[in-house]
Formats: sequence, C-alpha cells, structure tokens
Amino acid sequence: MKNYLVTGGAGFIGSNFVIYMLNKYDDVNIINIDKLTYAGNLENLKSVEGNEHYTFIQADICDKDAMQAIFDKYEIDYVVNFAAESHVDRSISDPEIFVQTNVLGTVNLLNIAKNAWQTGDDQYKDGVKFLQVSTDEVYGSLGETGYFMETTPLDPHSPYSSSKASADFFVKAYSDTYKFPVNITRCSNNYGPYQFPEKLIPLMINNVLQHKDLPIYGDGMQVRDWLYVEDHCKAIDMVIRGGKLGEVYNVGGHNERPNITIVKTIIDYIKKNVDDQVGEHLMKYVEDRKGHDRRYGIAPDKIKADLGWYPETTFEVGIVKTIKWYLENKTWMQNVTSGSYQQYYEKMYANK
Ligand code: NAD
Ligand code: DAU
Repeated sequence: MKNYLVTGGAGFIGSNFVIYMLNKYDDVNIINIDKLTYAGNLENLKSVEGNEHYTFIQADICDKDAMQAIFDKYEIDYVVNFAAESHVDRSISDPEIFVQTNVLGTVNLLNIAKNAWQTGDDQYKDGVKFLQVSTDEVYGSLGETGYFMETTPLDPHSPYSSSKASADFFVKAYSDTYKFPVNITRCSNNYGPYQFPEKLIPLMINNVLQHKDLPIYGDGMQVRDWLYVEDHCKAIDMVIRGGKLGEVYNVGGHNERPNITIVKTIIDYIKKNVDDQVGEHLMKYVEDRKGHDRRYGIAPDKIKADLGWYPETTFEVGIVKTIKWYLENKTWMQNVTSGSYQQYYEKMYANK
C-alpha cells in the first residue's frame, strides 16, 4: 500500500484526483486534508465517502501542528500539494491570503515532509516524493506564436501566479539545497465536473441557464489552453510514479481557444439542447481584468516523450461531457452558489 497525502482534495482538481486514484488502484490510501475554504466542498467526494482507503481531515496546510500530527500518524509516501487559493480575480483584490496559503503553506509542508522523511544528510526514505501542482501561469503570457517549455523563464504577472511561482522556487530550492525528492507539474487551464463557478466555463454555464449576462473581459480574444481535468489527474499520477526526481513537467493538450469561442460553444449547446431562448445577446463585454495575460499555450513534449502521457479527451468531447454534468447536477450548483457566492458575484461584476 502507498499512502498519499493529498492537500486541497475537496477542491475542483483535488477531488477529481482523489476519485480518479481510488477508482484506478486498490493499493493506495488517500489522506485528504483540506481547510474547506469557499472553494472546498465535501459534496464533491460523496462517491468515495466510506471507502476504506480514504480519510478526510479538515486542516490548514499553514498549521504546523496539524501537518506534523498527520505525518506522525500516517506513514506518508507521497505529498500531492493541490491546496491553494486558485482564482486570479480574487488575487487581484486580496493578494495576502495567496501569499499565506500558496507560499507559506507550501514551505510549511516542505519542512514537515523533509523532517519526516530524512534519514541522513541529503538522504530520504526510499521512494518518497513531494509533488507540487503548479500552473502554466508562472511562465507569464505569450504572443501570437510559441509555447511554454519547462525551460521558459518564470515571468508571473498576477498576485496568484506570483505566489505559485514563488512556491515553485521554494520547491526547487529544497531539491537543489537538500536533495529533497520533488517534482513540479505545470498544467494549463482545466475544466470538468466540480469546478467552482467563479471560473470561466462553469460561470458561463450557470449564467446562461439563468438568462444572466455573460461577462466577457476586454475583447474576449485572450487565449487559454484547455485540458479536461481527468487528463490532468492522469498526468499527476504518471509523474508521481515515473517522474525523474527534481524535474518539472508541463501538462497541456494543445487545445487553445479564445475565450469568446468557449462562451459561444456553451451558448450553442444550451440553445440546441436545452433552451432555445438563449443566444449571443446574453454576451456582455465588460472591463478587462487588470494585467490580463493574453495567451497561454503549453508544450507537453517532455511528459509525452519521457512518461508516455497523452490527453485522452478532446475539447469537443470534454466540453459536452462538462455541460451535461452541470445540467445533471443542478443541486450541486445551487448549493455552491448559495451563501457567500452571491456577495462575491455582485462585488466582482457590479461595476464591470
Ligand atoms: P480550487 O480553488 O478549486 O481548490 C483549492 C482547494 O484548496 C479547496 O478545496 C480549498 O478549500 C483548499 N485550500 C485552500 N487553502 C487551503 C489551506 N490553507 N489549507 C488547506 N486547504 C486549502 O482549485 P483547483 O482549481 O482545484 O486548483 C488546484 C491546484 O491546481 C492549485 O494549486 C492550482 O494552482 C493548480 N492548478 C489549477 C488549474 C486550473 O485550471 N484550475 C490549472 C493548473 C494548476
Ligand atoms: O492556466 C491555469 C490557470 O487557469 C490556473 O492556474 C488557475 O488556477 C485557474 O483559475 C485558471 O486561470 P484563468 O485566469 O485562466 O481562468 P479563469 O477561468 O478565471 O479565466 C479564463 C479566461 O476567461 C481568462 O482569460 C479570463 C476570462 N474570463 C473569466 C471570467 C471568470 C472572462 O472573460 N469572464 C469571466 O467572467
């Protein structure tokens, strides 16, 4: 049996990862620790509740005692650090919590894992690894051509991406300084089930179903490189099992789309299949995001060549699966948008 400490496992990608791993393997135990911020939701994990290989603990990755207690209690083999403040817009209005969780929380986990795993000078228990789940946003923004490679210099722009880049540098420092066993994955934009509707795709699905405005930042021609969340989970699993220690792996499926195309795809599907009253008249061009990165595009050549990873879900298939999931899980959407979401939404979009 291998024991995985998954942090942030009640969020979007983390919960998909927990479900993916427990469905795929009989010989893994998952200890999921999550602070349960506005973005964490135990409803995402209903399908694994009661699974004998799954444990949930509510805790903050910044909490030294709580993290130490987990390492004392469980023989952790792998840390998969998803826990983060993840939304760029929130980082623009409130950067400090991003430093707290994304930077200091990661350093806290690195320290505690290092002490727990160390057997001698620069020596660690066999087979252990710390995987930092990072993002393509640490590379900054691209022009019309070219792709982010693992060797692209980090050039983050938003407080969110700066905090993620900072965490990446600490992970690298622990590898370089202490020979601590790490990998970093840098993935492009994910989409799929359980994504909180502050992010583009679920926000648009939720709004269009209610005939609400579809807020498009700036000219809507910013490009993101979309990957179905299960393909990201598969990549993380492969990097844990086969990634060369100290290496960074970019993850992306060459699915670049301007935002406006994404929004129109969602409108078209809903119009054809659900409600013929919706249409492009709902699109509303609003004030641009401050410092908005123009284009992201990942070169996933290294993870393909070294580990044999490839994306299984095309955008055309993935977006339909995703829209259908939200249509079939309206109660989930109602639950996550009740309470503080309304306040967030009004504050965020009122003056746009
Ligand atoms: P999310 O916001 O949906 O989930 C984050 C989770 O972390 C939540 O469950 C939250 O409760 C938890 N959390 C926050 N602060 C915590 C703390 N201090 N201690 C413990 N738990 C805490 O985020 P996501 O979209 O699932 O992203 C997960 C990770 O993947 C992040 O590190 C993000 O930077 C990275 N990433 C995301 C994407 C994407 O497109 N969403 C792409 C590449 C990388
Ligand atoms: O690239 C990976 C990153 O992708 C992750 O590291 C982040 O955690 C994740 O949030 C995501 O960041 P983005 O800023 O790219 O995602 P978001 O869904 O917020 O926005 C996608 C694009 O859509 C972006 O260009 C901004 C635009 N947008 C977003 C919203 C919420 C709009 O035009 N209108 C909106 O209402």
